[in-house]
Amino acid sequence: MTPNGALAIFAIKLLSIGSLGKELKEAGVQNVTVKTATFRGTQNGLRIKSWGRPSSGFARNILFQHVVMINVQNPIIIDQNYCPNNKNCPGQDSGVKVSDATYQDIHGTSATEVAVKFDCSSKSPCNNISLQDVKLTYKNVLPAQASCNHAAGSASGLVQPSSCL
Ligand SMILES: *[C@@H]1O[C@H](CO)[C@@H](O)[C@H](O)[C@H]1NC(C)=O
Ligand SMILES: *[C@@H]1O[C@H](CO)[C@@H](O)[C@H](O)[C@H]1NC(C)=O
Repeated sequence: MTPNGALAIFAIKLLSIGSLGKELKEAGVQNVTVKTATFRGTQNGLRIKSWGRPSSGFARNILFQHVVMINVQNPIIIDQNYCPNNKNCPGQDSGVKVSDATYQDIHGTSATEVAVKFDCSSKSPCNNISLQDVKLTYKNVLPAQASCNHAAGSASGLVQPSSCL
């Protein structure tokens, strides 16, 4: 991939990993690398998404590397509570296991205060999530925040907002 606008937009579709876990029995996603992309003014940046339903699906060994965010609503997000119109899943936890995801050298600006959001399943929590040299600010100048629910992992290098893993 090159840091080209059109390709970056293609990449968003490609790397919005999900929606996983709609079916009870489902193949997983693994060994995905996304590198050198720019997101500009989009709703989501690096997203992994699963339905809040029982499932055998998984997403693991995912590497996001050298990514620039410019005014992106959700630069880094794992959303395991996807349930459109609250139909057929309210109150259920996602069975999809998200693990071994690395975010390396991710810089730029978030359009919302929460720049890093790991909203994982209580039934199968995210683990081994790693943040390395991630620096995101809120609207260029304000400090951004990170939010974690049922997510574990580590941070190394300069990580801003400070990791909640
Ligand atoms: C994914 O990577 C792991 C570890 O390198 C390897 O064992 C596995 O075969 C790979 N799976 C696929 C589907 O490529
Ligand atoms: C955590 O994830 C990294 C990157 O995918 C992998 O190399 C490492 O082996 C994982 N660690 C554990 C304890 O599974």
